[in-house]
This record gives sequence, structure tokens and C-alpha cells, in this order.
Amino acid sequence: MRLPGLIDIHVHMREPGATHKEDWDSGTAAALAGGFTVVLAMPNTQPPITDSAALAVVEQAAQTKARCDYGIYLGAGADNIDKLLPLADHAVGLKMYLDQTFGSLRLDDMSLWAKHLSGLPKHLPVVAHAEGRSIAAIILIASLFDHPIHLAHVSTKEEILLIRQAKEKGIQVTCEVCPHHLFLSEKDIPAIGARRSEVRPMLRSEEDRCSLWENLEVIDCFATDHAPHTLAEKDSPKPPPGYPGLETALPLFLTAIHEGKLTLDDVIRRLNTNPRRIFNIPEQPDTWIDVDMDETWEIRAAETYTRCGWTPFEGRKVRGRLRQVTLRGKLAFDSGKMYAQPGSGLNIRRK
Ligand code: DOR
Ligand code: ZN
Repeated sequence: MRLPGLIDIHVHMREPGATHKEDWDSGTAAALAGGFTVVLAMPNTQPPITDSAALAVVEQAAQTKARCDYGIYLGAGADNIDKLLPLADHAVGLKMYLDQTFGSLRLDDMSLWAKHLSGLPKHLPVVAHAEGRSIAAIILIASLFDHPIHLAHVSTKEEILLIRQAKEKGIQVTCEVCPHHLFLSEKDIPAIGARRSEVRPMLRSEEDRCSLWENLEVIDCFATDHAPHTLAEKDSPKPPPGYPGLETALPLFLTAIHEGKLTLDDVIRRLNTNPRRIFNIPEQPDTWIDVDMDETWEIRAAETYTRCGWTPFEGRKVRGRLRQVTLRGKLAFDSGKMYAQPGSGLNIRRK
């Protein structure tokens, strides 16, 4: 079965600052091994991507190391609004962290949210990490300034129902849900282990998880929030939050298709069509993936390309497997082997 190249709008490369977790080489290899031909990289690196110097460092690393195509987000800070304006056309969007997260980019003061939303060009997508009531607050502020807002990793019933109501009112809001909130819940924490389970937003109740499935039509995109931390870090007394996700998303969704929970069209819409529309991602010519819909296999971290060395889905039985990735006419990945070279990926906003 042939599908378009998948697009992951929410990925954490760890370069610069934490390349022992992931870098632009290993992270984009993981993307291709998961069927993704475009990844959009989050700005909570060290240093964070909040000015032109930091953006230049990331652009340089990505240009020399990326194996798939990519875009880069800018991070909203307390005092960088003026610095961001000239960078807007080089980025895929602005990320605003409004709640607890990994890294230093957190905006508590709502008047700063308003400043960013009112000052930026309308065509620049804005993505908010907001949980619970912050979602209501950011939807209101974005709509006051007539700026579309995209909500990252929606995870609860109250959130998805609020977004449904906002959409019904005609507010320009879109959202994404992560595989781990669709396929895991609190009840999986003992099996994964309490420390490794740490992720933001946390795994939720079964009721929350089911509500996401029941409101599938409200979900515009699936996004992995690929947030690699090493096993040693995850098993430490202060585990950083985050799961790898690039190499497990597609088989989980293909399995859900077999189970009748999704159609192939549901998956393509949320991992290609809608991401392309919301983030103005250009078509990738001669780009597609081939999947074997029927292979049954078990997810094993040992077989992955991410540097982090673990997955919360270890041992899960899945049905459907990526065979080949063709990126801009070239065979990039085939049956577990990586052919795309570092530096072959293109910045989708390159001028
Ligand atoms: O679990 C998470 N990990 N949530 C975030 O918001 C950040 C991410 C990371 O960068 O590790
Ligand atoms: Zn994230």
C-alpha cells in the first residue's frame, strides 16, 4: 500500500544542547524509519530558539545533518517579540509554552501571550502548549486578536470538548493529539514504570483516552511529540518528561485501522493533508511511503534509530509495517536500512 510521506508537526531534536539524547542526524533517521518525510522541530533546545543567533545554529546543524525535510519553530520568550519579527519567514511557526514543560521557555503572564499574538504576522502559525484551563485562556486571547491558534497534544475530555465548542462557534482553532494519549492511559503506568511514564501532558484516565477517540473529527492532526531522553535519565530520581514517538506512530495507527477504529483516509488526513494546510508546507515531489499492511510484529527499542534507546510501547504487538520511503525521487529507507544521507534533507522555509 502506497501512502504520502507523513508529516510530524511536533518533534524535539535535541541539538544544540543535548545531542546525547538525539541530534539532527539520529532524529531525522528515526523520522524516515517511521515514515515521516517532514518533521517540524520545537524550539526548547539549549539555548532555545528565541533569536537569530540561536536559529542560525540550528539551521546550520540541520542543513548538514538532516536526512529528511524539516521546518523549525521559534520560541516565544518574555522579551523577544521584536527579535522574532524578522525571523518569521524562516520559521514554520511560533511555539508558546504556557504550562509546565521541559526547558526554560515558559510564559506565565497572559499579557505576553497577547503581545505575541497581536504582534506577529497573521500567516505565521502559532502553536500553544496549554493544558486544562490554559486552553480556554489561549483560545480567547487568540480569537481576540483574530490569530489562528493550534493546540499541541490535547489529552483530556474537557479539553477536546471545549475545542469542539470553539470550532462550532467558528473560532480559528486547530489541534493535535499524540499517539501516547490515544494508545496509553494511567493504567499503563505500572507496566511502563513510574519514572519512565513521566510526560507532559501526563498519561490520562481511560475516560479521557476514550473521549479522544469519540471526538476524532475534532482532531486535525496526529503528532508524536517525539521527546527523546535517555534510559539512564528516565530511570533517574528526577526523570525528565517525554517519550520517543517517531518510529512507533505509524504501526500503531495501522493497527488501529485493522481494528476498525480509523480509516486509512483518517490517518492520511491527520498526518499529511491537515498538517500541510495548517503549516503551509509545500508539496514534496516524488515522495511517498510503502507499507506492508499485514505484517504482524512486536515493537522493540533495540531496532530503532532514535538515540534515546527505549520506547513506552516496548513489546506491543502491531499489524502493519513500513517497507520503503522514497523522498524526492530517491530511495531513503528500505526494510530497516537507511539510505538517505545526512545533509540530504531540505528546510521547507529555505529562501
Ligand atoms: O513530555 C514532554 N517533553 N513535554 C514537553 O512539553 C516537552 C517535552 C521535551 O522537550 O522533553
Ligand atoms: Zn513537545
